[in-house]
Amino acid sequence: MSATYAADGHAARQLPLLPRKARRRAPCRQSYKPAMALAGELAAEPLQNALKEAMRVYPQGVTVVTMRASDGPRGITVSSFTSVSLSPPLVLISIAKGSQLHDEYAKSEAFAVNFLADDQKSVSDMFAGRTAARDRFQGLRFADGTSGSPVIDGSRAVVECRTWRVYDGGDHSLIIGEVVAAKTFSAKKPLVYYSQQYTSTEPPERAAPPSDIVW
Ligand SMILES: Cc1cc2nc3c(=O)[nH]c(=O)nc-3n(C[C@H](O)[C@H](O)[C@H](O)COP(=O)(O)O)c2cc1C
Repeated sequence: MSATYAADGHAARQLPLLPRKARRRAPCRQSYKPAMALAGELAAEPLQNALKEAMRVYPQGVTVVTMRASDGPRGITVSSFTSVSLSPPLVLISIAKGSQLHDEYAKSEAFAVNFLADDQKSVSDMFAGRTAARDRFQGLRFADGTSGSPVIDGSRAVVECRTWRVYDGGDHSLIIGEVVAAKTFSAKKPLVYYSQQYTSTEPPERAAPPSDIVW
């Protein structure tokens, strides 16, 4: 008997199927029934909770995305960062539309993605909304990078961007940046967000890939 599984974030659920012989004889609508049942069930599931639960077991690196507004620097903790293209060099960040800084980021001409190290948990917390947006840089050492966006001292690396495109992404905006500079500062352990907690990971034994391998 073949099985159909529902993505409910926990136990896979087996839906009843007709025995193989009966399925061969069954009219088209009957054999289609399990798929329809699955679609109905999925619509009724608290899918958002299932998605959040699944994402919790997906480890993500932690960055602070900085930019310069007319009255000072801005920063927001972001884990939804990924590289998109090498030619042209593009990366993507996703910013919640509900964030007080959303509009400034969606309109900004440039931004920098600071990769945090595992000794920068307090920096991540500082930029994750616990401090008023204008006060987040108080007491923090940083310098303006090539793009004019703040580069935070102690970060493992920085990727500086010019804003390339902004797309709608549901309750987030997807901001794609064209990379104008990238620098690696240290081999400190990365700050990782996993299972709603900060953690880290040991670098692999062979830290740098052979030069003919891109990823
Ligand atoms: C580890 C971590 C990762 C986060 N990643 C994102 C993200 O990718 N996009 C986002 O919009 N908010 C993300 N947040 C939440 C924002 O940092 C937080 O809501 C924001 O700083 C609040 O901004 P506001 O003061 O502008 O509303 C993350 C928070 C944490 C702790």
